[in-house]
Amino acid sequence: MADKKIIAIMGATGAQGGGLARAILADPNGGFAVRAVTRYVNSEKARALAQAGAEVVGADIDDADSLKMAFRGAYGAFCVTFFWDHFAVEREMAEARSMADEAKHAGLQHVIWSTLEDTRKWVPLTDNRMPTLQGKYKVPHFDGKGESDRVFTEGGVPTTCLLTSFYWDNFIHFGMGPKPGPDGKLAITLPMGEKKLPGIAAEDIGKCAYGIFKKGREFIGKTVGIAGEHLTGSQMAAGFS
Ligand SMILES: NC(=O)c1ccc[n+]([C@@H]2O[C@H](COP(=O)([O-])OP(=O)(O)OC[C@H]3O[C@@H](n4cnc5c(N)ncnc54)[C@H](OP(=O)(O)O)[C@@H]3O)[C@@H](O)[C@H]2O)c1
Repeated sequence: MADKKIIAIMGATGAQGGGLARAILADPNGGFAVRAVTRYVNSEKARALAQAGAEVVGADIDDADSLKMAFRGAYGAFCVTFFWDHFAVEREMAEARSMADEAKHAGLQHVIWSTLEDTRKWVPLTDNRMPTLQGKYKVPHFDGKGESDRVFTEGGVPTTCLLTSFYWDNFIHFGMGPKPGPDGKLAITLPMGEKKLPGIAAEDIGKCAYGIFKKGREFIGKTVGIAGEHLTGSQMAAGFS
């Protein structure tokens, strides 16, 4: 463990961070070690990670001192925010800034920031095809993440911005699965016409992040977009069938 590069993983008990933790733990000769960051070190998920060989540390993303401890002595960090826990863009952006500040302070050599597109670059606030929400956003949980890219990159943190995509798992765990219509036929409703949706199995996000950590310097300063497939509604329906 001592000679391994420690990756502090935010959200290690969740989908993205959990995938990364499992990818590193499944590769004991890969040269990396997992520091799983969680608020609840005694939870079932935290204990399972510890059992699999992770160091488990307690920290809260909203508590800078605890982040300081979580990042101390690490080689890198996987930074992700948790929009659906509070639905507050400003809070999410403050959390991103706090992780970037603490990553800089700890002298981390490689940070992966899990981000999404700032959709206002494609659909400006003046474009009424989409409503403007909270006065400032088109897609709040995307825009705040995209706007936060610069707190890492301009803050001098050696960062790879990882543009993730829609989890296919949303069709299982997020209430978006097929529902029967009046005729009994199962359907999913997404306002996308015949456009394609980039999507990915949530577990694969962490696997990609691990690949980026392994490549190291090659990916610092880069933005990497990942998807398992780009599918139209008809293709998704065919997949479900
Ligand atoms: N659903 C999608 O299609 C999709 C696609 C792309 C991106 N995203 C983004 O993914 C992010 C969520 O990541 P996820 O899906 O991996 O999470 P998740 O599976 O919902 O798990 C939530 C994680 O957040 C941790 N957490 C929550 N509040 C925390 C706090 N105050 N301090 C420290 N840790 C905290 C939890 O850890 P403990 O409970 O153990 O502390 C847990 O590990 C969201 O920002 C979302 O916008 C979602």
